[in-house]
Amino acid sequence: MKRISLTQYLVEEQRQHHSIPAELRLLIEVVGRACKTISHSVGKGALGEVLGALESENVQGEVQKKLDVISNEILLEANEWGGHLAAMASEEMEDIHPIPNRYPKGEYLLVFDPLDGSSNIDVNVSIGTIFSVLKAPEGMTEPTEKDFLQPGAKQVAAGYALYGPQTLLVLTTGNGVNCFTLDREMGSWVLTQRNMQIPAKTKEFAINASNQRHWHAPVQRYIGELLAGSTGPRGTDFNMRWIASMVADVHRILNRGGVFMYPADNKDPSKPGRLRLMYEANPMAFIVEQAGGMATDGKKRILDIQPEKLHQRVPVFLGSRDEVALVTSYHQEAV
Ligand code: AHG
Ligand code: MN
Ligand code: MN
Ligand code: MN
Repeated sequence: MKRISLTQYLVEEQRQHHSIPAELRLLIEVVGRACKTISHSVGKGALGEVLGALESENVQGEVQKKLDVISNEILLEANEWGGHLAAMASEEMEDIHPIPNRYPKGEYLLVFDPLDGSSNIDVNVSIGTIFSVLKAPEGMTEPTEKDFLQPGAKQVAAGYALYGPQTLLVLTTGNGVNCFTLDREMGSWVLTQRNMQIPAKTKEFAINASNQRHWHAPVQRYIGELLAGSTGPRGTDFNMRWIASMVADVHRILNRGGVFMYPADNKDPSKPGRLRLMYEANPMAFIVEQAGGMATDGKKRILDIQPEKLHQRVPVFLGSRDEVALVTSYHQEAV
């Protein structure tokens, strides 16, 4: 098999489709390099003293795990000096992080969930990093939070790293979705899956079913029909999977189909869902659409939502097109 590295893939993409300007290519490579470093820390586990929680909480009120903070710092440090960014924002920082004055500034904005699936860190279950790249608005001088509040449709690149049995990097620049495997001996990302496609039909769904009593009627209806199995209205048995790391659940869906849901519910009506629009829902929605799937907040396309806040939460329904369309239609009918 001819080995194609991430660098070679990006250069060839740039030549063929002009879809990846040189600065964006550099940015993606730097994020990829940071993810290698995170993968290395994750892999050390107890030996690297990276497990466990800190005393601190992030802006979402979640207790920060050591690896949440370590991964955040790795991404900040790696991306600060390259000259391709104007500012960064992260799940683990309340405010945006402008590039310090000692470094040149570029035209991109990077948003990330440095460590996704925090509850799985200490039990050696797959976790990941999610990132989204936006272009800074024309004429921006000093970046502010407002500059980040662009609909997901404006993303120029998005991806995730998955730290599982293998470390993978899944990437889109708006021209399909490709997957790279980390060659741990060589320290390089090698292209291992081209043009990933989510099957339109599926018999597998993912939802945290412990919240069932809090779900709204359209979700009760949809899941009720799936659970009714072959004698119910769907006439078929559905299987359920829930890893509690969005990255790992989405990766399964990219490979064999499925529908992933984190709906809003009645548990805490002040929270419109659990997942965050800017660094979880938007990048995953971009990837899923680029792989032929669909992503909505129950009513409309996630990528069309105009963000109002950096840490805004949003209900998420994504994956195989036919299922996402069906559960979305149940929400639309209920209005
Ligand atoms: P994070 O660890 O970045 O805060 O995100 C965790 C998210 C997501 O990865 C996952 O799908 C979901 O939270 C799990 O939620 P439950 O704890 O309700 O299962
Ligand atoms: Mn978190
Ligand atoms: Mn997350
Ligand atoms: Mn996180």
